[in-house]
Amino acid sequence: MLREAKIEDAQAIQNLICFYSENGKMLFRTLEEIEKNIADFLVWEQHGQVVGICSLKFGWDKLVEIRSLGVDPRYHRQGIATKMVQGSIERALLRDDCDTAFVLTYALPLFTKLGFQIVDKMELPQKVWNDCQACLHKDNCDETAMSLSLIPLKKQAIDEIQYS
Ligand SMILES: CC(C)(COP(=O)(O)OP(=O)(O)OC[C@H]1O[C@@H](n2cnc3c(N)ncnc32)[C@H](O)[C@@H]1OP(=O)(O)O)[C@@H](O)C(=O)NCCC(=O)NCCS
Repeated sequence: MLREAKIEDAQAIQNLICFYSENGKMLFRTLEEIEKNIADFLVWEQHGQVVGICSLKFGWDKLVEIRSLGVDPRYHRQGIATKMVQGSIERALLRDDCDTAFVLTYALPLFTKLGFQIVDKMELPQKVWNDCQACLHKDNCDETAMSLSLIPLKKQAIDEIQYS
């Protein structure tokens, strides 16, 4: 089940982030940082446990970044990340202040299936890179930037409401 994170989830979120940040697959975040920004997180709960996490960072001009996407390895390839990204896009569609979702990722097939396209990293606003200072790969970034325009999806949602 996909749901918004609660403050009690912060430790479980950090555990997954620590697991994946150790080998550079995710940016490390302190527990305090997670608690402070808990409203940005979505979690996937299964059998009462947090087994998937994802966060949304608004405020990069009209961009929203999907970040800290991770699923407990015991639950891989069950469509959890797919549902988390879809849920994130649905949330972004409700907002007026963003028209494009982007991600810096190693998981190209996942995002390609969801309609994201590869973009030149240099097209992203400079301030996006501030967070990269803490990354193990900051001097040799091997992630791919991918983006999805929300404008057609917003239009489609409006049309569906109008014609239903
Ligand atoms: C990437 C990750 C989030 C995928 O989670 P998941 O819940 O297993 O993903 P899904 O089941 O929704 O997979 C959807 C599609 O993505 C692709 N995919 C997922 N994991 C893959 C892998 N290890 N290798 C190749 N393709 C993969 C497949 O196309 C898959 O569809 P399929 O199972 O029908 O073939 C998970 O492997 C993970 O936590 N990785 C470590 C952290 C990370 O790299 N996060 C991404 C940063 S943005």
